[in-house]
Amino acid sequence: MKFCVVTLFPEFVKSIVSFSIIKNALAKKILEFETINIRDFATDSYKTVDDRPYGGGAGMILKIDVLEKALTSVKKEPKAKTILLDPRGKRFTQKKAEEYSLLNQLIIVSGHYEGIDERINYFIDEKVSLGDFILTGGEIASLALIDSVGRLIPGVINQNSLTKESRPPFFLEYPQYTRPEVYKHHRVPPVLLSGDHAKIKKWRENASGKLGVK
Ligand SMILES: C[S@@+](CC[C@H](N)C(=O)[O-])C[C@H]1O[C@@H](n2cnc3c(N)ncnc32)[C@H](O)[C@@H]1O
Repeated sequence: MKFCVVTLFPEFVKSIVSFSIIKNALAKKILEFETINIRDFATDSYKTVDDRPYGGGAGMILKIDVLEKALTSVKKEPKAKTILLDPRGKRFTQKKAEEYSLLNQLIIVSGHYEGIDERINYFIDEKVSLGDFILTGGEIASLALIDSVGRLIPGVINQNSLTKESRPPFFLEYPQYTRPEVYKHHRVPPVLLSGDHAKIKKWRENASGKLGVK
């Protein structure tokens, strides 16, 4: 699986390659990662990537000509999808992460400033929102997306960790504890120390959460 992030701030997004599970998966070439700097595709000597909105209004809008050049520079794999991070997009869910994990390539367009020329719609497959809040840019959203999709790729994490959460109804982990048994008067639930595996199993089933159910 290859992630390609089209962004004004590649260094920000590159932080994901330096840590923990995703770093290891990249080293093992289970995942691939590339950033495309939108500014490299500006056509004037000032490296202009944005302009004022038609009709007036606050902020600056990323220019469609520069963005399209950045997008078409990406070599597309056979099973690829191009998505735009947008608070108006469809809410990103575990189900969506599953769907993306079956692709060969996910091209992620990260906006910044006031927004992006709406004609980007002609060059993307879908819009994705991380939730009903506004970030200053799509970089943090792209990191969350890469992390959640990347961990579903076989070999990235222990597959046993995925079995419950990756199928509908998307069970979440039950509460977990490790030593010490008592910490500042707070005890580990006694059933977990009982050695009774049937009881432990039942307790864990009851205590498991479900994604989307609070
Ligand atoms: C400041 S936001 C633009 C918000 C835009 N003016 C609006 O009201 O919809 C800049 C960029 O951050 C990203 N972004 C902000 N919030 C997001 C969210 N909830 N999910 C995904 N991307 C988001 C998008 O790429 C967006 O183009």
